[in-house]
Amino acid sequence: MTLRDFPLCRVDELVEGQARGFDPLQRGKDSVFALVHEGQLRLYRNSCPHLDVRLEYRKDRFLSADGQLIVCYAHGAQFLPGTGECVYGPCLGQKLEALPWRVEEGWLVLQMPGMKVAPRRVEVSRLTIHRIPDRD
Ligand code: FES
Repeated sequence: MTLRDFPLCRVDELVEGQARGFDPLQRGKDSVFALVHEGQLRLYRNSCPHLDVRLEYRKDRFLSADGQLIVCYAHGAQFLPGTGECVYGPCLGQKLEALPWRVEEGWLVLQMPGMKVAPRRVEVSRLTIHRIPDRD
């Protein structure tokens, strides 16, 4: 299995009781999020086990108001920050997918197994092609 490294942020930028989303594949949406809970760093795929949708209701809003639970804002499922286990809602007992990571020189680095990086889209301007009239 190959792992790709994605530096996400400096570890000291993460604050207890807050979460932060990241878009390592640069697809315009945060596909992973990190948080610090009871001094432990956690990194999860941003996908609810109920319907495979993103959890947050706006940028970096993954947690309950008191910062004690991860919340899926689609249908209100609640997850334990330390384990990702759903303790309330339609996916009760299921878990968020924890992702492998390491800290390197103060940076949180996502180690994503088998993640394919989609080629960047390149806008090509549309050209009008005029037919050249046949010569007589
Ligand atoms: S999609 Fe998350 S609780 Fe339904």
